[in-house]
Amino acid sequence: MKYLILNDGNKIPIIGFGVFMIPNDGPTYEAVLNALKSGYRHIDTAAAYFNEEDVGKAIRDSGIDREEIFVTSKLWLSDNGYEEAKRGIARSLRKLNLDYIDLYLIHQPYGDVEGAWKAMEEAKAEGKIHSIGVSNMSVALWNKFVPHFNIKPAVNQVEFNPLFQQKEIRALMKETDTKLEAWYPLGHGDANLLSHEIITTLANKYGKNPGQIILRFEVQDGVITLPKSTNKERIKTNLDIFDFTLTNEEMEAIRQMDTGKGSHNPDAPGVEERLRSAFVIED
Ligand code: A2P
Repeated sequence: MKYLILNDGNKIPIIGFGVFMIPNDGPTYEAVLNALKSGYRHIDTAAAYFNEEDVGKAIRDSGIDREEIFVTSKLWLSDNGYEEAKRGIARSLRKLNLDYIDLYLIHQPYGDVEGAWKAMEEAKAEGKIHSIGVSNMSVALWNKFVPHFNIKPAVNQVEFNPLFQQKEIRALMKETDTKLEAWYPLGHGDANLLSHEIITTLANKYGKNPGQIILRFEVQDGVITLPKSTNKERIKTNLDIFDFTLTNEEMEAIRQMDTGKGSHNPDAPGVEERLRSAFVIED
């Protein structure tokens, strides 16, 4: 496993295992145990994934030292606010049943983001959270909120893959050395991406599958990537990308695949309202 150093000095495994949409009470527990057995040391969950209990239990039962595992969770939108975020952080810690969370993110940056961030900065100072970051921040949302933060976000977790390379927000994030974390790093299985000629040609050349070429491009470009798979073989082989290097020309060819468009536009009208009604977090 390769690691990156975040802007607060903490170390993060460059590939993580995402558990979005995996149910609690068994399936997430099994999936996380299997991922840890396959070599993953970074698990990405969220309050709004409703499976923090299983994630924590799998980590405790894995027999692996807690310090070797990097756990991310996220504050849901209804907890954006100072008092709300304090409660949200306490709830995540209780559900995970862990002494600390490695990385905690503002999941959706609407409403009282500054109040929530203040509570996250305090939780970091108290050692309850080691690193703090944001998610789904467009250039407009970044410019609205981040200049008011004391601590600059360690990461911004956004949709990213070769067809949607987020060039504008990445340029802005460079100024604060904020790392990009990729959700939908394989385009959520998009055939336009996985069957793209540039990708399949490289897959043949290196004896890898298309997904591995895409993930290699991402980590080689300094992106922390969170591929999702329900297939045991692919869960394992998606980590097997550190025994080859794409040339500068190959990296450049993949950079040229960017269309500038993805499936989620955080600035689109009605997005905040739609997200607000999507999930209700209960204690
Ligand atoms: P599966 O679960 O059958 O492996 P994303 O991480 O962008 O959301 O993409 C997830 C999708 O990509 C899933 O449909 C998953 O299918 C598929 N996938 C995961 N790993 C690979 C891979 N190495 N090659 C091709 N498809 C993959």
